[in-house]
Amino acid sequence: MKSQDIRSKFLGFFKEKKHSIVPSAPMVLKDDPTLMFVNSGMAPFKEYFLGNAKPKNNRVADSQKCLRVSGKHNDLEEVGYDTYHHTLFEMLGNWSFGDYFKKEAIAWAWELLVDVYGIDKDILYVTVFEGSDDADKLPMDTEAYDFWKQYISEDRILTGNKKDNFWEMGDQGPCGPCSEIHVDIRSAEEKAKVDGKDLVNMDHPQVVEIWNLVFMQYNRKANGSLENLPEKHIDTGMGFERLCMVLQGVQSNYDTDVFTPIIREIETITNKNYGKDETTDIAIRVISDHVRAVAFSIADGQLPSNTGAGYVIRRILRRAVRYGFTFLDKKEPFIYRLVDVLSSKMGEAFPELIAQKQLIENVIKEEEQSFLRTLDQGLILLNRIVDETKGDTVSGEKAFELYDTYGFPIDLTALILSEKGLKLDEKGFDEQLQKQKNRSRAASEMSTDDWTILNDDAVEEFVGYDTLEANVKLTKYRKVSSKKDGDMYQLVFNLTPFYPEGGGQVGDKGYLEDAHGDVVYILDTKKENNVIIHFAKNLPKHLNETFKAVVDAKQRYRTECNHTATHLLHQALREVLGDHVEQKGSAVHSKYLRFDFSHFSKLTAEQLRDVENFVNSRIEGKLPLIEKRNIAKEEALADGAMSLFGEKYGDTVRSVRFGQSIELCGGTHVKNTADIWHFKIISEGAVAAGIRRIEAITNDAVKDYYSENNRAYFEMKELLNNAKEPVKALQNLQEENASLKKEIEALLKAKAKNIKAELKNELQEINGIRFLAKKLDLDAAGLKDVAFELGSQFDNLFLLFATEQNGKALLSCYISKELVASKGLNAGQVVRELGKFIQGGGGGQPFFATAGGKKPDGIDEALAEATGFIK
Ligand code: ALA
Repeated sequence: MKSQDIRSKFLGFFKEKKHSIVPSAPMVLKDDPTLMFVNSGMAPFKEYFLGNAKPKNNRVADSQKCLRVSGKHNDLEEVGYDTYHHTLFEMLGNWSFGDYFKKEAIAWAWELLVDVYGIDKDILYVTVFEGSDDADKLPMDTEAYDFWKQYISEDRILTGNKKDNFWEMGDQGPCGPCSEIHVDIRSAEEKAKVDGKDLVNMDHPQVVEIWNLVFMQYNRKANGSLENLPEKHIDTGMGFERLCMVLQGVQSNYDTDVFTPIIREIETITNKNYGKDETTDIAIRVISDHVRAVAFSIADGQLPSNTGAGYVIRRILRRAVRYGFTFLDKKEPFIYRLVDVLSSKMGEAFPELIAQKQLIENVIKEEEQSFLRTLDQGLILLNRIVDETKGDTVSGEKAFELYDTYGFPIDLTALILSEKGLKLDEKGFDEQLQKQKNRSRAASEMSTDDWTILNDDAVEEFVGYDTLEANVKLTKYRKVSSKKDGDMYQLVFNLTPFYPEGGGQVGDKGYLEDAHGDVVYILDTKKENNVIIHFAKNLPKHLNETFKAVVDAKQRYRTECNHTATHLLHQALREVLGDHVEQKGSAVHSKYLRFDFSHFSKLTAEQLRDVENFVNSRIEGKLPLIEKRNIAKEEALADGAMSLFGEKYGDTVRSVRFGQSIELCGGTHVKNTADIWHFKIISEGAVAAGIRRIEAITNDAVKDYYSENNRAYFEMKELLNNAKEPVKALQNLQEENASLKKEIEALLKAKAKNIKAELKNELQEINGIRFLAKKLDLDAAGLKDVAFELGSQFDNLFLLFATEQNGKALLSCYISKELVASKGLNAGQVVRELGKFIQGGGGGQPFFATAGGKKPDGIDEALAEATGFIK
């Protein structure tokens, strides 16, 4: 059975069982501070499990893209070494939100596997939770056991401990016992040797878990205790690639049609064969896995970067490059060339891969190029470290610097050193790494209390589209303590005018005031799993009273100007540059807006002017806001609304329209474009291959910008003696400056020539070494020039030159290479030691090094000490 059919059979089966089939949510989570990526099928539904929102249908099924590369579930370092773990994988899942429970979940799982897919029941094992006698004191799941008994013989029902059979979403939140279904696809011969029972959950590549049925019935509280959930839920997850392995009768996920086309392409590109050599195979598996993770992330709008989720993606791609570089001899970009086959094989189920193919290729190629440059640079640095190493071990500190500052992978360092017959002080490296981890852990340490509930029934309503002030009641609060922000309180109300950060727009600030005049400031507002959370330094004094909640109107208004301008900018870019322009990121602040979009080249001055004019014409056109709330997504799309890749839309959406600009958007906007007053682009540049960024300002910020520019202009004019034509006057000055520079250069050259001629006669002969230590009236480049010139004419030279420039001292030491080799002299060491006379330091290579210092008075002493090195 083809993988396509396996996926659609799953969805069709649950559709028949009255489940709504939903598309996979984007992998990158935007409003869940506890999770960076969707790491299991249930993550996009957390708000339903937590009771923060109600689903339209309480039965849902899907195939969800998951990424297990950070946090609690992290498989990254295993990927490639075995045949059944992945970074990105599809999780097929069916859910019941307070509807059916164990009986149906078990019955349907069995029916699907055995009757629909036709899996032989004699290769299946199931596990149930055995209970725990730790603090939780959980009973054995006899209920599940009894249901399984109806389908499978009891000797195939195994009990399992908490690690394997109790599933928790995170440190807090919904959890419960689970039943796993395992398959044993070994040959009859292998089976005769070892009983399959003994291999379940033992990391055997052919005895693997394929499906996990979680029976959510508890809530884990912050203090670690469990309470019963008000409603019970089902959360199941089946590994799609593993299921394909079973149904296609192969022994490895990588031998299914999900991976083979990619692997064939890698073989063609690298001229290597899969299945011949274990190291090559690992590298090929790593690359075929990682290209999927990276391509899907980019399609979901997550580009590689230096922080957060973007950094995780960058690390995955770099891991792939590294394996290609080291084990497949690929020293030039090639991973981007796999995107073609990936998108043609997976594009039907995931159309975002086809729509964004070009962008994905560009981004991956550029990342590959830049990391290969890093590797080249790292190799040079590593060679230098090797040259400077005395003995046979490279220090952990040096290797750590290479890893931390230059991004050079430590396993590559170890490999290269072993090829050179050197050792790496791994313990020293691990110590440095641990120290760094401790530093960042200390900085991000955080503790979150349980919610204190004041009113359980209240459903929070957002009223901030229509008003900036409302009377509100507190429904729950909790304390969050972190090193970074100290203690903060998170407050939730029955209703709120505060806009929570989202869709690029910053969260509202403002205050609460009670009848006694007590005020609490709201410093920020965010959304977490569909709950609007207000951040305050203090807790209100009178918790149960009604508060007047007031949004900072000025900040909100400025932010709204920027948000509406962002929509107009998006429209303008598509108008001026073409329909290929797609939003790739946006930040709407009160002071400015930032907009990232796909486009292949720098915008010309004319294009920028056209874009600006387009937006300003819409502002002058006084276009009113026309919004539609709570409409079906299809209705909005029929109106012509633009939706974005990587954005998770709810069952109903809101559309925001100004003239011909229509977008699906939850943000707040001006009532009329005329409110924006004016729009001005202040910068345009590249963010990544094929992604440009525009920063712009509106309203008051434009006024400030013009008056600041005006002030600078008049200051400049004054400096130009109030020239009538200041631009012309400036050009003249520049020309004059350039010709003066040339003259100075010529003079300095002549001077250096004279000096060189004189210096030749001053060389002293000490112990067979030509020695000179002298202060010269030249700059740093001049010192180097003279030293190298003498070096080309004489051998056995030891030169120490000094100069004083702008109140600072500079030493420059040159030692002929033959002296470095024969006498063990080292210019770096010379300048480091003599640097103390000028209160400074420096370094360089054994044959040439420089030091700078802040005490020119020490130069004579430094020069006088130089002979000490050769005597
Ligand atoms: N959420 C469960 C898992 O990921 C199904 O295994």
